[in-house]
Amino acid sequence: MKILVTGGAGYIGSHTCVELLNAGYEIIVVDNLSNSKQESLKRVRQITGKSLSFYKADILDSTALNEIFIENKIEAVIHFAGFKAVGESVNFPLAYYHNNVTGTMRLCEAMTKHGVKRMVFSSSATVYGNPVSVPISEDDPVGATNPYGRTKQIIENMLGDLQVSDPEWNVALLRYFNPIGAHESGLIGEDPNGIPNNLIPYISQVAIGKLNELKVFGKDYQTKDGTGVRDYIHVVDLAAGHVKALEKLLGSTGIQTYNLGTGKGHSVLDMVGAFEKAAGKKIPCCFVERRPGDIDISYANPAKAQRELGWRASKGIIEMCEDTWRWQSYNPEGYITHKLHYITSANTVVNYEESL
Ligand code: NAD
Ligand code: UD1
Repeated sequence: MKILVTGGAGYIGSHTCVELLNAGYEIIVVDNLSNSKQESLKRVRQITGKSLSFYKADILDSTALNEIFIENKIEAVIHFAGFKAVGESVNFPLAYYHNNVTGTMRLCEAMTKHGVKRMVFSSSATVYGNPVSVPISEDDPVGATNPYGRTKQIIENMLGDLQVSDPEWNVALLRYFNPIGAHESGLIGEDPNGIPNNLIPYISQVAIGKLNELKVFGKDYQTKDGTGVRDYIHVVDLAAGHVKALEKLLGSTGIQTYNLGTGKGHSVLDMVGAFEKAAGKKIPCCFVERRPGDIDISYANPAKAQRELGWRASKGIIEMCEDTWRWQSYNPEGYITHKLHYITSANTVVNYEESL
């Protein structure tokens, strides 16, 4: 059975390709490589010993999408393609709305044209904004606080409207909490562009000696040690959740939302301790001001995914840090070729590549 994976060369997409191939699916990846390298897909082949098809194309390009659907009998789409940096989205909102929202519209149009009505969509816990309480359940109020999060909310609503207009559509909206870690082989992992914004990629670069020390954002949050608490989930557990969601889509119609998290919250200092243990080295830290927009605490109630998808995260934070560290130490420069997309002041996206 052929599955189209948009954004399949990226961090979560490449790990999901491994799980899909291992589960026996055939894969077609479409990715414009604006934030990834084709090397990740070579490594997916290396890990699984299986082949996949790759189209270097933009999901905004209806002609290219049309050709992909003509050339392949696609049964379902797993849709990862999109921009994901919160800070960048504040500076370049139109580029984010265009790529994420219009891109998903073009994809849905192509799917409709070719009678493909099953989609697993990458949403985010960021749609909950500042949660009213924890653990967070799927029916808790949403209210994203930045343009990136609002693109996810708009897409969720758009897919809901589409499903109402045509009940043959079958959609799973997956709200990820904080994906970290890497494949246990150390061959694929997160390859951030420039200085990382997120905690674990930053710690990892401190551990490898590229950055001097971790700046812990705030020490007066209403949490056990004053630092922010999040629900970190191993990317391989997350990838397995996509296979479970796909299996569910193949057997029913409707639209469902699922939290993909572990249900456990860990503080920044917990994560520093876990990484030190995993890497066997000290991570120098200092406390600085809170990062604007950060919340005290966020973790999932993952009961619905457990109940309806038969999925549960199994890997703990030590394993997440060990796998991140293996990936970082084997690939200190990531996938080697760098430079991805940048957005001009006119909100135009420019793609370029530079080989190191
Ligand atoms: P990523 O940047 O590594 O992967 C996204 C991929 O989509 C990249 O390979 C990029 O080149 C591709 N892409 C972007 N725009 C495209 C376009 N117009 N046409 C074709 N390809 C395009 O990001 P990721 O961390 O793997 O995230 C995957 C999805 O999950 C994203 O939609 C993201 O918003 C969502 N998500 C990520 C996180 C996280 O922490 N990583 C959390 C919640 C949700
Ligand atoms: C961030 C995004 C969120 C996105 C998620 C995906 C913001 C406000 N939110 O979530 O929309 O879905 O990434 O990966 O950007 N921290 C430090 N020092 C650092 C980096 C982080 O102390 O250098 C702290 C943060 O204050 C937070 C925790 O580590 O308490 C996790 O931060 P991060 O990894 O950036 O994730 P989120 O903020 O949860």
